[in-house]
Amino acid sequence: MAIYGLLIVLVVPLCLTVIYHFLLLRRSSFSQEGMADVIFKNATFYTGDPRRPWVDAIAVQKGRILELGALDVVEKKIGPHTCYEDLNGGFIVPGFVESHAHVISGGLQMLQVNFQDVSTQNEFIEKVKIAAREKQSGQWLLGGGWNNERWGGELPRASWIDVYTQDIPVWIYRMDGHMGLANSKALQILGIIGNISDPEGGKLVRSKDGGLTGILIDSAMKLVADYIPEPTIKERRDALVRASKLALSNGITTVVDFGRFFPGSPTTDVWDDFHNVYKWMDKKGSLPLRFSIFFPLETWSDVYTQIRLTGQRLSQNLKIGGLKAFADGSLGSGTAFFNEPYADDPSNYGLEILNTESVMNDVLQADKMGLQIAIHAIGDGANDRILALYQSINKSNGQRDRRLRIEHAQHLSQNALDIFSSEQIIASMQPEHLLDDANFASKKLGEERASRISYLFKSLLMKNVTLAFGSDWPVAHLNPLKGIIAATERRPPGSSLPWIPSECIEVHDALRGYTLAAAYAAFLENEIGSLTQGKFADFAVLSEDIFHAHAEVSVLATYKGGIKVFSKETTDFVL
Ligand SMILES: *[C@@H]1O[C@H](CO)[C@@H](O)[C@H](O)[C@H]1NC(C)=O
Ligand SMILES: *[C@@H]1O[C@H](CO)[C@@H](O)[C@H](O)[C@H]1NC(C)=O
Ligand SMILES: *[C@@H]1O[C@H](CO)[C@@H](O)[C@H](O)[C@H]1NC(C)=O
Ligand SMILES: *[C@@H]1O[C@H](CO)[C@@H](O)[C@H](O)[C@H]1NC(C)=O
Repeated sequence: MAIYGLLIVLVVPLCLTVIYHFLLLRRSSFSQEGMADVIFKNATFYTGDPRRPWVDAIAVQKGRILELGALDVVEKKIGPHTCYEDLNGGFIVPGFVESHAHVISGGLQMLQVNFQDVSTQNEFIEKVKIAAREKQSGQWLLGGGWNNERWGGELPRASWIDVYTQDIPVWIYRMDGHMGLANSKALQILGIIGNISDPEGGKLVRSKDGGLTGILIDSAMKLVADYIPEPTIKERRDALVRASKLALSNGITTVVDFGRFFPGSPTTDVWDDFHNVYKWMDKKGSLPLRFSIFFPLETWSDVYTQIRLTGQRLSQNLKIGGLKAFADGSLGSGTAFFNEPYADDPSNYGLEILNTESVMNDVLQADKMGLQIAIHAIGDGANDRILALYQSINKSNGQRDRRLRIEHAQHLSQNALDIFSSEQIIASMQPEHLLDDANFASKKLGEERASRISYLFKSLLMKNVTLAFGSDWPVAHLNPLKGIIAATERRPPGSSLPWIPSECIEVHDALRGYTLAAAYAAFLENEIGSLTQGKFADFAVLSEDIFHAHAEVSVLATYKGGIKVFSKETTDFVL
């Protein structure tokens, strides 16, 4: 009896394992040369491929598109093990490519106190008060997402919340990640006292009497970074999974990750995340979607070493994207760098973060290694400088397909449009940001200037500039459908009129910004970005035809490499 018992214990799980593996591997291990593993049908497929934009069916083999077109053509690829997958009349678009997100910071922030919906000073204080009750003395209260423009522009101050937080240090980012509020306890822990001078590339906001208000801007945020408990490796791996689920539920199958969220993060964080989170998960085969990672520019020699060890493509899911630097701050924080002063502060042009000489040296070295460069520039002044710097790369290092990127490219001079066009520089932009900016750009820049230089989507497209779209999540929603609406309608919340209507673009172009153009901007257009023979079968099933009813559209399911990885019906993830 005992032996039979043992046999059952051993054999039953073995059988289950075999069946399990059989089910799992069916599509690949039994796939026949030239024959489909699965045929997707009963859907309207918008391929995003200009050579053949619409098809009826798609045959997939080993995760890639084997054939597409009319059903009878695709059915020529049926082999003995081919199965059908009925998409229930859904509307299919290529899997979205998110061009600019902060994946791990965003995933961590999903568990912190969220101030995104706060629209008055009282709500702000109340939120802190409630969160502080949950904390023990000395434990950090962390959060983000506040936007002072919601309550007329006044910056929050430590004195608003000190009485409710006492021994609990508080650090809460503004929504754009370019400033944060520390309470007095936090300032005390950091050893920041009233007479401390502003660091280069940053600012400590003071009240009229010269005392610190608790607001730290751009590089001044570095003062905090050392004291905030670093999330553990496990917490960061969990954050990546949480962020990935959110991405998949919004139809995103590839994310270009720009590392930690705020400019004060030590460069070592991105590398630690790369080794211990991304590479670790990739080795286990557990990365839920495809990632391309950008690293801080000053670490270009580490990137070089890494590529020599592993190549730039570590797997189908993980790629070393390139290098990133900052040229300025943000409009909301008054640190975006403009050619003319801020309308509401004639002494302020913004912050020029970039030390042009040392950056130039790094950029030239990195470019020689064949790496792609992406630089954050928001104000027209910062954009002009980066464009000039980019022009000189071609002169020094010669011509090649380098696809230089400017991240945000939010405010542009007419001259800048021409250089984007002639040098084929990529504008990596985030349409949803304009919804927040529309309300106060006129105040900060003056009405005429704001409407001449802000979010020039249409003007860029008219000059054939590649427009790659993203969200800058967690700054805006990790949701391309919202971005498409923002780019096509440009209608700020509460307004029935578009902001700068002449810059509205077509759904077709906005969709391209989140698919093929975004793939091109990441040197991935041969793998993803459209439904084309040989590319990965990455796609989203939408509830409606996005060209006709884009406000009502939602994502019903997401497929990566021909496998369903998200379904709205069951809210199931296959990770
Ligand atoms: C396609 O799916 C819809 C919705 O499930 C269904 O009503 C229809 O019968 C299907 N069409 C075909 C040809 O299978
Ligand atoms: C700030 O004040 C402290 C105490 O008065 C003094 O020791 C320190 O030298 C001052 N620092 C600066 C930068 O002025
Ligand atoms: C880059 O420089 C070469 C000369 O080295 C020139 O012929 C070419 O037009 C330049 N390309 C761009 C995009 O400016
Ligand atoms: C943009 O591309 C189209 C089609 O290739 C071309 O006809 C047009 O002249 C280009 N426009 C500019 C400003 O380069």
